[in-house]
Amino acid sequence: MSQRRIGILGLGSYLPERILTNADLEKMVDTSDQWIVERTGIKIRHIARDDQATSDLASEAARRALNKSALKAEDIDLIIVATVTGDMPFPSTSCIVQEKIGAFGAACMDLNAACSGWLYSLDVAWQFVKNGRYRRVLAIGSEKLTAITDWKDRNTCILFGDGAGAAIIGETDGGGEIISSYLGADGRWGKLLYMPGGGSRYPASHETVDTRLHYMKMEGKEVFKQAVIAMARAAESVLQQAGMKAEEITWVIPHQANIRIMSAVAKRLAVPFEKFIVTVDHCGNLSAASIPVALDEVVSAGKIKSGDTVLLVAFGGGFTWGSMIVRM
Ligand code: UT7
Repeated sequence: MSQRRIGILGLGSYLPERILTNADLEKMVDTSDQWIVERTGIKIRHIARDDQATSDLASEAARRALNKSALKAEDIDLIIVATVTGDMPFPSTSCIVQEKIGAFGAACMDLNAACSGWLYSLDVAWQFVKNGRYRRVLAIGSEKLTAITDWKDRNTCILFGDGAGAAIIGETDGGGEIISSYLGADGRWGKLLYMPGGGSRYPASHETVDTRLHYMKMEGKEVFKQAVIAMARAAESVLQQAGMKAEEITWVIPHQANIRIMSAVAKRLAVPFEKFIVTVDHCGNLSAASIPVALDEVVSAGKIKSGDTVLLVAFGGGFTWGSMIVRM
């Protein structure tokens, strides 16, 4: 009997049309194009319209993934939306997406693992398909980070953008497959990257608004250091689990936060930086959406081909991390 292979049946992504350049940011805070490019690698980022919420970006990415896989919305059994910027505390953004795309046969859940969220959602999708509970799972990473960006804080406001990426996971007919997945977290680092306001700890009040608790806070330098260590370790762990060597990997798609983080991870892994996919220059940091957007972009451009072995690796608030090896 041939072995069941479970992998990516289709990919889609969506970036809002509006662009925010470094020159635009120079007019908003005390910064410069040169500083932003040198310290982060970011040149532009896409910004959602005021009337677009995370579910709108997610639904567009999902429609595109359905189109590319020639599947219908009614073929989807489960929708997972990985996000830290859901439309509202409840209902879940995945339920809102279900209505928008018409996938009424699907169960729905949101997943929060910050920038590692999409890899967590992909692993959950993989497990459900493997154990036979669901046939096709739509795993979306979608963020409207500009909704929680403090436009007065130059340490953070230059970093983030909006966007969504989606994959449909299911049984492939002998083609690609998910080979291995590794997830981890350490809650002791929670307050280095977080948004304190709006939950049950600090419900919205005049005071929480006045003290700017509804914006992202980050200790950039420490996050940078831990991101490099955790992503390199996560990559090594998933390779070890798969019994593979770094040389067997065709491409690496790391979470896109900062080009200097990516090049430090490449150095630690002794993988040539040419194998690293970089989209941070035109996307900024898209949190849970960064890896699926990058993956869809390079697959659509024909850079990643069928049969290529791709290592995905992420790090984010929590702290959380994750890595996955996928044969396309
Ligand atoms: O997505 C989840 C993970 N997130 C990340 O991985 C982000 C990780 N962190 C980073 O990418 C980097 O730490 C940043 C890009 C946020 C900052 O870069 P850095 O090299 O760590 O800079 P820094 O925070 O040490 O700041 C260096 C200097 C400071 O000035 P002084 O104190 O040396 O005079 C900052 O005030 O740069 C200053 N600075 C800026 N200058 C111009 C900070 N932000 C800016 C800015 N423009 N936007």
